[in-house]
Amino acid sequence: MASLEEAFAVARQARDNAYAPYSGFRVGAAVKPLGRDELYAGCNVENASYGATICAERSAVVHMVSMRGKSRIEYVVVVTDADPPSVPCAVCLQVLAEFCAPETMIHLADTQRIRKSIALKELLPQPFVLV
Ligand code: THU
Repeated sequence: MASLEEAFAVARQARDNAYAPYSGFRVGAAVKPLGRDELYAGCNVENASYGATICAERSAVVHMVSMRGKSRIEYVVVVTDADPPSVPCAVCLQVLAEFCAPETMIHLADTQRIRKSIALKELLPQPFVLV
């Protein structure tokens, strides 16, 4: 069974693969689909045209949807070496909101362990919704 500890390990491994030659700031992420014993990793992939960069969290969501189609996310792990640990950027929070419940936990880690766990709704109380 995919555990939070495994998700941390998967996200940390993904961080090692980050392509961040411009910022030097490596980010790894893992998302666990609800009801599936699976983990999907992502890392930031930068580009010489800086705006073409994709963040680790969105990369993990794209990975999950590419492999499994539409899925709900049970939890998210993000690994950086920042202190305090980085939270996902606003664009990533909006993308996570598409597949997460407001109560979905976002686990923020450094390379040693998860340092803080916070619900998506605390980070993005009012996601954009198309009505
Ligand atoms: N980055 C992420 O991967 N996730 C975030 O939520 C914020 C920022 C990446 C993008 C860029 O490669 C580097 O961190 C510095 O902004």
